[in-house]
Amino acid sequence: MLRLSLLAGLALPLFCCMNAAAQYDLIPAPQDIKLAEGTTRNLAVKAQKEVASLPASGYKLKLAPEGVFIQYRDKAGLDYALVTLEQLKDQLKASPEGIPAGVIADHPVYPWRGMMADVARHYMPLADLKKFVDVMHFYKFNKLHLHLTDDQGWRLPVPGYPKLKTIASKRKDSEGDGKPHSGFYTAKELKELVAYCAERNIEVLPEIDMPGHNQALAAAYPELFCDPLPKIDVRTTGGVSKELVCPCKKETLKFYNAVFDALKDIFPSSFVHLGGDEAPTDRWESCPVCQKSRAKHKMKDTHEQMGAFFATMTDLLAKRGKQPQFWFENNASIYQKGQTVYSWRMGLTPSTIDKTREAGLKLILTPGEHCYLDYPQMEGHSNRGWMPRTTLEQSYRFQPTYGRPAAEVEHIVGVHCTLWAECLPTLEHTLYRAYPRAMAIAEAGWTQPERRSWSDFQKRLEAHQKSFPARFKYTLERTPTNEPHFVK
Ligand code: ACM
Ligand code: ZN
Repeated sequence: MLRLSLLAGLALPLFCCMNAAAQYDLIPAPQDIKLAEGTTRNLAVKAQKEVASLPASGYKLKLAPEGVFIQYRDKAGLDYALVTLEQLKDQLKASPEGIPAGVIADHPVYPWRGMMADVARHYMPLADLKKFVDVMHFYKFNKLHLHLTDDQGWRLPVPGYPKLKTIASKRKDSEGDGKPHSGFYTAKELKELVAYCAERNIEVLPEIDMPGHNQALAAAYPELFCDPLPKIDVRTTGGVSKELVCPCKKETLKFYNAVFDALKDIFPSSFVHLGGDEAPTDRWESCPVCQKSRAKHKMKDTHEQMGAFFATMTDLLAKRGKQPQFWFENNASIYQKGQTVYSWRMGLTPSTIDKTREAGLKLILTPGEHCYLDYPQMEGHSNRGWMPRTTLEQSYRFQPTYGRPAAEVEHIVGVHCTLWAECLPTLEHTLYRAYPRAMAIAEAGWTQPERRSWSDFQKRLEAHQKSFPARFKYTLERTPTNEPHFVK
C-alpha cells in the first residue's frame, strides 16, 4: 500500500468555491470542494493514509498534477475515496485536457443508504444481483435489502423445509403471461453475494415478510396458517393476500426458528427485516386457535395480537444476536422502543417522523412519492393501472428532514429505495426503473441539504448518462417506453 508521510501537499493555492460541485462530475455531490489553480490529468494514487480526525466513513482527495493523495478515516472512507476516483476517471475520459486540481473533503450525512431488490416477485440470479450491486456501489449505497419472500415466491433455503423449493419457489405464470416462473438460491450463492457486497462496503439485509405476504408459503406449508387450513397456489398476481401465518401454532414458531437459524448461517447483518406490512387480520379474527389465544392472554384485538407476534419474533432473533426491522403501519404501539421501522406509505412520512420519534423508534425513509422507483417515471410508462408517476425531479426533491430542526430528526437513520418487481422481470427492467432516480436518492442520503441543487445535479447527471453505458453496458436514456436500453 502506498503510504503518505505527510499530506503536506494539501497546501495548494486554494480558492474556496461555493458552487463547485459541477466542476467535478460526482454523484452524490461531495460535502466540500476547494479548487486549486490549474488542472490535472494524473489520477494515479500517489499516496494514501488512514487518519484519526475525519468523520466516520470520510475521506479527502487531493487532485494535483503529480497525482492523487488520499486521506481516509476508515475502511469505508477509503472505499468511497476510490469510488470518487473512478467517477473522476470517467470525467477525465470525457475531458482529456484535464480536470480541475483541488481538494475534495467528503463523508455521508446518513449511515444508512439502501436499495431493495424484490427477488420474491421476480427471481434475480446471482450474476444479476452482482451487477445490481456494482451500480449501487458506484453511487455509494451501503445496504442491499433482499426481499426474499412474498405471496409470489419464496427464495431462501431453510433446512428441514424442502417444499419451499419444490412448491413455494414456483408459480404457474405472472399476471396472466402464461409463462411459469421459478428461482431459489442456495446458501452458498447467498454467502457469495454477502462476501461480494462486503468487499464493496455493502451490508446485505434479508427480509422475511410476515405474517402477511405469505401465499407462497401457504401453498407449501398450509399447516402454518389459520384454521381452516388454506388450499391455495402460489400467487400469480399483485395485490394483498389474506393468507397470514397463524401466530398461535407451535408449527409456526418451529418454522421461524429454522428460518432464523438459516439466516444466521448466511447473513452477518445484525438486522432481519420482518416486513409486517399489508397484513389484513380477517383470518386471525375467525381462526379458533387465534381466538382462544386472544382470550387466554386477555388481548382486546388482533392489533394487540400482532404486537405480541412481533415480540415473539423479536425474542427469537435476539437469541441469535439480531434485531428486527419493520415496514411502519401507522400504529407505533405494535413495535418496541429502539426498533427500526421504514416510512413508506404515500404522504405519511411527515406524520410518521413525529409518531416514531415520540415512540422512541428509529426510522429509515422510503416515502412512496420519492423512493418507490418501480413507479413509472415517464409519460407512457406502464403504471399497472394505479401507480403515480414519479419524475426524476420529484425523487430529487426528497428532503429527508422535511424542514424539521435537527433535534426532531435525530432518530432518522437514513434513506432507502424500493424496486417492487411484480412487473420488473429482468435486471434490465429493474435498472431502467431504478436509474437515474436512485442517483437522486443517493444524493439525498449522502449530501448536506445546503450542498444539494437540482440544477447542479442535472449537469452532473448529463456526464453520468454519457459514461454509464461504457461502465455498465446499459444506457440511461429517459424515453417514454418501458423497454430496457441495452448497449449492443
Ligand atoms: C410495501 O410497499 N408494501 C412496504
Ligand atoms: Zn390462527
